[in-house]
Amino acid sequence: MISINHGEFADPWRGPKPMTQIPWIHETAIIKDSRMGEWTVVGSGCEVIASDIMDYAYMIKDAEIFNAEIGKFANIASHVRINPTNHPVWRATLHHFTYRAKSHLMADEDEEANEISDWRNSKRVIIGPDVWIGHGAIVMPGVSVGTGAIIGSGSIVTKDVEDYTIVAGNPARLIRRRVSEEVADTLKRIKWWDWERTRLVAALGDFRKLDATEFAHKYGEI
Ligand SMILES: CC(C)(COP(=O)(O)OP(=O)(O)OC[C@H]1O[C@@H](n2cnc3c(N)ncnc32)[C@H](O)[C@@H]1OP(=O)(O)O)[C@@H](O)C(=O)NCCC(=O)NCCS
Repeated sequence: MISINHGEFADPWRGPKPMTQIPWIHETAIIKDSRMGEWTVVGSGCEVIASDIMDYAYMIKDAEIFNAEIGKFANIASHVRINPTNHPVWRATLHHFTYRAKSHLMADEDEEANEISDWRNSKRVIIGPDVWIGHGAIVMPGVSVGTGAIIGSGSIVTKDVEDYTIVAGNPARLIRRRVSEEVADTLKRIKWWDWERTRLVAALGDFRKLDATEFAHKYGEI
């Protein structure tokens, strides 16, 4: 056996290019018509289209996100797909030559009244703050994932997910609550994700040593 250390990680936590306040975007990522907050990360091979990525949210690698709002401190694992677009099931063909006619050199314009893009744009996905989306999960068009929720790896999320619940499977179903409703209500009242950075840093010790219930009790009384 020989000891091996080969290659560089393509992320800011272990790789050569560290995070800063300015969005961290891997050179292989594609981002179009989108906005990003501070301390955000878009890892290698990710594609982000027409989306807002709020402060501290990150996606590891090979995630595809279309028409979505990704809440603060959202954790998106690799190979996650958010808002896979539907094809026009009511038309004679599902193929995109009807709405991408220009690319196919079949018309001068794609489609005058763009029925398909309007339809797709109307199905925005909302991901709340402090959500964790596991490896390879898919969040379907128009779905909202509530604050603090967890999506199990490989899940297909077809319906809205309640705040602070854990869902998994295909279709994703409730496994259990992450915290009690009382604690969830308190955390939503505390809204630590809106705190100034200095306050987050001051509370770092408590984020580490208190569990969610203890944290809610301590900071919910302020
Ligand atoms: C969702 C998750 C957090 C649940 O963890 P947990 O609360 O410890 O859940 P358990 O392992 O006790 O499983 C509880 C039940 O849910 C099922 N389950 C757990 N994860 C599941 C998943 N991803 N898909 C389908 N079912 C799942 C279990 O089979 C079990 O079912 P049972 O009660 O019928 O036996 C975890 O399983 C998961 O998917 N984590 C994501 C990991 C990941 O993708 N990391 C990427 C790096 S960020």
